[in-house]
This record gives sequence, structure tokens and C-alpha cells, in this order.
Amino acid sequence: MSRINIAIDGPAGAGKSTIARAVAKRLDILYLDTGAMYRAMALKALRKGVSPGNRGEVLPLLPDTEITAKNDGGAQLTFLDGEDVSRLIRTQEVSKGASDIGVIPEVRVKLAELQRAIARENDVVMDGRDICTYIMPDTKNKFYVTASVEERARRRLLELNARGEYLDYTLEKMRDEIAARDHTDSTRDFAPLTLPPDAIVIDTTRMSVESAIETLMNHIRL
Ligand code: DC
Repeated sequence: MSRINIAIDGPAGAGKSTIARAVAKRLDILYLDTGAMYRAMALKALRKGVSPGNRGEVLPLLPDTEITAKNDGGAQLTFLDGEDVSRLIRTQEVSKGASDIGVIPEVRVKLAELQRAIARENDVVMDGRDICTYIMPDTKNKFYVTASVEERARRRLLELNARGEYLDYTLEKMRDEIAARDHTDSTRDFAPLTLPPDAIVIDTTRMSVESAIETLMNHIRL
């Protein structure tokens, strides 16, 4: 039996996870947020006082780090060495750390093994930066979800502010941080974020979440 494997890549804040979660729910299959795994790895480094971009200091942490994801009624819980870190990984510091740690090839190889195993054993919608190109290059279902950097910054700030967080942030500061992350994610040597030639592009800048979900659903090949 062949698996349903749906790959969604794109830059930060484009709406990938909202769309991916909804599509997984409609198809009644698993959703995997791979960004959360990079975030958990970054949190580990930060807690150890290690700069996430420092390969020499990050490598010794890898053998003793266990990152797992659990499905909790369609949402994802992310565990770092057995601790539920799902909320702790949603800070701007961890966002930057995840982008920096994702440059290190050994980190990517470790997380790729976990992600590929999940795709082998489950029907899954997976979102990230290298899912179409590196994690599941053979899937028929490749999507690239994007939006303008201004719109992505606006949405991210709204989301954080709604939780009472980052109320002192300006839109410009958020835009600069997202643009810096885009740059790191798309210019690294190993499995960078790129627009795959065979992916369906969904630009959500002026699109409602519902129509983005519909567009993606209409292109799924089972
Ligand atoms: O999807 P996100 O914004 O939660 O991801 C956080 C960072 O993790 C992102 O800026 C880069 C890194 N990442 C990655 O390198 N590869 C992935 N498949 C997912 C995330």
C-alpha cells in the first residue's frame, strides 16, 4: 500500500502550519510540524548556554538529545528529552535559534531520519523548509506556501500579541527578524529552503485561510 505523503514548504509565517493541520484533519491523517523539532533542538542548545549556530558546541549535544512529536487531537506536542516543550519553543529567541541550528548538517541528518521514519510509517502532512526537496523528494504532493514578508510579519505579530506577548515589538522589528530568518534558511549549503520546480505554489498574501486550504485540497493526488 502506498502512503499519502504531503509535503509543504515555505518561509516563516506564510500559514503553512495552519493549512497543513487543517488538511491533515480533513484527510484524517497525521500532521508533523518539523519546525518544532528544530525549535526543540535550539532550546536544548540555549539551555546549555550554547549558541545554536556554533557547530563545534552543538555537535556534542546531539547523541544525548531525544526529540519526539506526539499527536494530540490534531495538534502536535513536542518533547525534548521527555519534557513537553510545546509552548516554550514559541519565543522569538527560539525562532532565531532554530534557523541557526538548522544550518548544521548533522542536526538536519538526525532530524531527517526521524521525519522519514514517520513518513514511512504513517500517512502524513509534513511542513517545513526541505520537505519537498530533501525529506520526501519522491512524493507526488508538493506545495510551496508563501506570502509577502510584510504580511507574514503582520500575522506573526498579531498572533503573538493575541497571547499578550511581544506587545513592545514594532512591525518593522518583526519584519526584520523574519527577513533575517528567511535569509539564513534559504542560503545555507545543506538542504536550503528553495522553491521546488515541481511544487504547486500557494501565495496566501491576499487569500483567506479557507481558500488556501481549498486550493491545496484541490491539488492533492491520492
Ligand atoms: O517552521 P518554523 O518557523 O517553526 O521553523 C523554525 C526554524 O526551523 C526555521 O526558521 C528554520 C528551521 N527549519 C528548518 O531548517 N527545516 C525545517 N524543515 C523546518 C524548520
